[in-house]
Amino acid sequence: MAEELRIVLRNADRIDPLNIDDYLAAGGYRALEKARGMNPKDLINEVKASNLRGRGGAGFNAGLKWSFVPPADVTYVVCNLDEGEPGTYKDRTIVEKDPQSLLEGMAICAHAIGSRQGFIYCRGEYPYVVEHLRKAIAQARDKGVLGDFDIQVRMGAGAYVCGEETALIESIEGHRGEPRFKPPFPGVAGLWGKPTVVNNVETFANLPEIVLKGAAWFAGIGTPSYPGTKVLTLTGDVVNRVAIEVPTDTTIRQVIYEFGGGIRGGRKFKAVQIGGTSGGFIPESLLDTPIDADSMRSIGATLGTGAVLVMDETRDIVDIVTRIAKFFEHESCGKCNPCREGTFRCYEIMKKINAGRATAADIDNIMLLSKVMTRAALCGLGQAAPGPIMTTLQHFRGDYERKLLS
Ligand SMILES: Cc1cc2nc3c(=O)[nH]c(=O)nc-3n(C[C@H](O)[C@H](O)[C@H](O)COP(=O)(O)O)c2cc1C
Repeated sequence: MAEELRIVLRNADRIDPLNIDDYLAAGGYRALEKARGMNPKDLINEVKASNLRGRGGAGFNAGLKWSFVPPADVTYVVCNLDEGEPGTYKDRTIVEKDPQSLLEGMAICAHAIGSRQGFIYCRGEYPYVVEHLRKAIAQARDKGVLGDFDIQVRMGAGAYVCGEETALIESIEGHRGEPRFKPPFPGVAGLWGKPTVVNNVETFANLPEIVLKGAAWFAGIGTPSYPGTKVLTLTGDVVNRVAIEVPTDTTIRQVIYEFGGGIRGGRKFKAVQIGGTSGGFIPESLLDTPIDADSMRSIGATLGTGAVLVMDETRDIVDIVTRIAKFFEHESCGKCNPCREGTFRCYEIMKKINAGRATAADIDNIMLLSKVMTRAALCGLGQAAPGPIMTTLQHFRGDYERKLLS
């Protein structure tokens, strides 16, 4: 029987999240004290050696990202709490249950890159989380634990693309949230042109334990290439719709059947989509894959944010993918042609297939279009939008063919 391992959620439901004394009594801010006693270069090397990879989707080694920050008078630490991915609520859960872990993680990063100012960019649909965070920050300031590092909260306005790090930076600067061309990467030129580290909530919240227990401890958990744990949120046709934290060598089957309690209503499993709206669809035959990012990639899927959407045998895959295509058509910011036109055309063709008006040529067209978008779109939104189309055509082609004109 697989078991949960709580690193990020170690204090969840054990402390009062809005009482910093509880956090301190549970060992909080000892890691920051230890980190501040370290040379920033050694701290970065330690985080690099832990192989903590970003938990916001792209899975980049956090320490390596920090090491790109050049010496500068002003640098920024930005936490991505945009969490716009439908079906994902892990970052909200972490912050609701233990906000100080996030603040401590950000302060550790601040010491590593010599920053005095942090920002948390919070999803616009989470106004109560903004209030919660502001209270937690005020307590940390009052206790003086953050030293000369300060953190402000900024609120988004409901655009999915603002989760993309450069669009997020534009939004914090007060501009329209559209992605920038990369390079330069934010680590070199981010907020107001200054070196900026952008990491996900879960990435930061892992840091206190890594600093306290060491890189080797963390690197030994889960799979070697993507060590540690992952917070997953189970939704859809699963018995237990819960947030769990499991080592990354846990398989998808264990997640659905041991933690999720299996399929609702005694029905059969049909598919699972992992990683959010742009995640690949996974059939029964691949359920024994571990949930780490590289294993998921090897089967053409993603770990992404860790949203786990389970679908039972009654679900209409083509209809679901059509709704997803509508979401992307709506959320495309329009800055680049491949995404603006591509998401629009994908939705058009999916509607045609779903309505039973398409031929095999439409399937060839949408596949070709998907490949072009993957390669040509400016940011991850347009690059990943065709993922559900491509993976369902790979694993559930019969569902499409049954809807074609004969
Ligand atoms: C369209 C789009 C939406 C994204 N939304 C989020 C998000 O809500 N939260 C997040 O942490 N990363 C999101 N990302 C990834 C960020 O661009 C970035 O890679 C991440 O914040 C870096 O943090 P990490 O290295 O700790 O994962 C999104 C990317 C794209 C392309």
